[in-house]
Amino acid sequence: MSQALDQSSGSAEHEDEMRATLARSDAAVFIAERADGSICGYVEAGSRPYADGCDSSPVGYVEAWYVDPDVRLAGYGRALLAAAEEWARSQGYREMASDALLDNVVSFEAHVASGYSEVDRVIQFRKPLA
Ligand SMILES: CC(C)(COP(=O)(O)OP(=O)(O)OC[C@H]1O[C@@H](n2cnc3c(N)ncnc32)[C@H](O)[C@@H]1OP(=O)(O)O)[C@@H](O)C(=O)NCCC(=O)NCCS
Repeated sequence: MSQALDQSSGSAEHEDEMRATLARSDAAVFIAERADGSICGYVEAGSRPYADGCDSSPVGYVEAWYVDPDVRLAGYGRALLAAAEEWARSQGYREMASDALLDNVVSFEAHVASGYSEVDRVIQFRKPLA
């Protein structure tokens, strides 16, 4: 699922990253299960010192959010976000932040439907320094 979200890395890298996330005390991963017990989605909740548009610090952050295509629009995504937000509350955070790529309309709509408001749109740049 992590690879479905980010195909720029291989499965071994995703596995390493997930193990590192699970070892952190300031992050949590929640999964969703179908009625038959198979896993159909996950959310990775983390914390960041700052997030654009937030006025508290640190804040909870939705680092990854994914639901399998066959069970989308059935409430799993909202339930996962609720679990991430509950975790953030339990850490004492007052705000939750997230991001989405500019062309990810589904993510945009799902965030808005889940109570998130758009803060800004950015284009990121890089230049290798020789
Ligand atoms: C974004 C994603 C996690 C949502 O999961 P989901 O299980 O379909 O979400 P839910 O069914 O809980 O829906 C939550 C709300 O978002 C809305 N929503 C979800 N998908 C939508 C879509 N395609 N168009 C419009 N609204 C949508 C729902 O209508 C719902 O609001 P409502 O209860 O007021 O109707 C899922 O679409 C996904 O995995 N997408 C691919 C990965 C991705 O882009 N992740 C986000 C990375 S930033």
